Amino acid sequence: MACILVLTLFAMFLISFSANDVVGEPLFPAMYVFGDSLVDDGNNNFLNSLAKANFAPYGIDFSSGPTGRFCNGKTPIDLLGEKIGLPYLPPFADTTAQGGADIFSGVNYASAAAGIMEVTGRHLGERISFRKQVQNFETTLNQLKSQVNIEILSKNLSKSLTVVNHGSNDYINNYLLPKLYATSFICDPKSYADLLIQLYKKQILILHGFGLRKFLLGGLGPLGCIPNQLSRASAPPGQCVTYVNKIVSMFNDALKTLVDQLNLDYNGSVFVFGNTYGTLADIINNPNTHGFTVTDRACCGCLPMSTPCRNRSEYVFWDTYHPTQAVNIIIIDRALNGPPSDCYPVNVKQMAKM
Ligand SMILES: *[C@@H]1O[C@H](CO)[C@@H](O)[C@H](O)[C@H]1NC(C)=O
Ligand SMILES: *[C@@H]1O[C@H](CO)[C@@H](O)[C@H](O)[C@H]1NC(C)=O
Ligand SMILES: *[C@@H]1O[C@H](CO)[C@@H](O)[C@H](O)[C@H]1NC(C)=O
Repeated sequence: MACILVLTLFAMFLISFSANDVVGEPLFPAMYVFGDSLVDDGNNNFLNSLAKANFAPYGIDFSSGPTGRFCNGKTPIDLLGEKIGLPYLPPFADTTAQGGADIFSGVNYASAAAGIMEVTGRHLGERISFRKQVQNFETTLNQLKSQVNIEILSKNLSKSLTVVNHGSNDYINNYLLPKLYATSFICDPKSYADLLIQLYKKQILILHGFGLRKFLLGGLGPLGCIPNQLSRASAPPGQCVTYVNKIVSMFNDALKTLVDQLNLDYNGSVFVFGNTYGTLADIINNPNTHGFTVTDRACCGCLPMSTPCRNRSEYVFWDTYHPTQAVNIIIIDRALNGPPSDCYPVNVKQMAKM
């Protein structure tokens, strides 16, 4: 708990176009997305940041080429949107100017390198923290209020899907960089996870206060298995960095506990934990079952115009941090249709009916 004081001062599924896929009426009227590079769809293009993906070979498998998505193709949010019947969401950065992008189906506020803590990712330049993303949502809300009847709007918000995917950078671009960030000297891993969840909860409750009621909260993946961490730490060949996976699991455990607590405290709302860790660990441990052969190297060096690996469908990781589209498809399939071990306590299709 001392850690909290001090730091306060420092101020998926295989795309099967089957009969039950969505056509016509969307499962949710809109989707609002808060997160990091795993779901950023172009907000960082407008920032003075090293964390950018608006150049080839990013987007090599995306219909409109490089857009700022940190993937060869679609992000989990693009895929989720397709499945629930929504168009690709505009990045918030595209919505603020006069005549900006349509905000009626939702907005994506995610920013690469950003995290729950304000300081997270600072060494990479500008980024939009979770707290600032929530402030940006308020800007959207004011835009909507000026255009839509308030009652219709609040009904819409209460049925809309809010997705939060934050926390990875608070580890890989903060806690695990002791030369650049003091957090690991101040907090042991458990207090750090608790601190992050406390700050996270605060933002969730602000969003709830704005009238959002359906929350999909993505857990962290096994960050000890991403090529970036494999190259930094000395894990035995073929193994992940155990320490990193262990501290990341503390965050996930605390997030799951938060989900239980919020579901009790806010009757009429639904909070869901997306077990990205479980799905990715399954893919990394059993790559062949899913059609992958390479789990420990990135397909793409991803410097501008660099040539990616020959067959990217064999790779779990596109660059040293981010999964390939093929992996995102599995993650979203499980989030939509999976049992409580994948998406807890209900999956996204069940959320839509609540
Ligand atoms: C509310 O939802 C409908 C779809 O159900 C959509 O057409 C409309 O634009 C939404 N309005 C707002 C303000 O979100
Ligand atoms: C939650 O609300 C529903 C109706 O909206 C009510 O039937 C139920 O008893 C409530 N549950 C709790 C635990 O308050
Ligand atoms: C690429 O990899 C996929 C998945 O392992 C495989 O099915 C496909 O045949 C490969 N394509 C080529 C051209 O080798």
